[in-house]
Amino acid sequence: MSDRTLIVIKPDAVKRGLVGQILSRFEAKGFIIKELRMIQLSKEKAEEFYSVHKGKPFFKDLVDFITSGPVVAAILEGRNAIEAVRIMIGSTDASKAPPGSIRGDYSLGLTDNSIHASDSLESFQRETKALDLI
Ligand code: CMP
Repeated sequence: MSDRTLIVIKPDAVKRGLVGQILSRFEAKGFIIKELRMIQLSKEKAEEFYSVHKGKPFFKDLVDFITSGPVVAAILEGRNAIEAVRIMIGSTDASKAPPGSIRGDYSLGLTDNSIHASDSLESFQRETKALDLI
């Protein structure tokens, strides 16, 4: 159990003006926003951020997409943060994410699935470092 996690609101959701709505869901749930930053990722930073997916067939599309516009990164603090936030965002393939989850309510995509959240303490540490957040 970790009390902090990282979320990244992806370029599709930023372009559609969903930043406020998405952040307000986490605040309403009880999370505290500890860091908040809009970032334009370089190709190098994006590859570091998604390094666990290097070599997978979707890696290039993923890097192209995440660098296609600014993202909004936030560190959230609250009880059992990593697991609770993963439940709130819904499954990776947004077409299968249930209504009420963030991906379920705002997206149909797989690469363009509106939001990323760390899936482990190790990912949280690597991802926040790649984004120069800590
Ligand atoms: P995310 O939580 O940001 O972590 C890795 C991302 O890769 C994932 O969300 C998806 O947006 C993207 N992706 C694209 N294709 C796939 C796939 N076939 N399986 C898993 N993730 C994929």
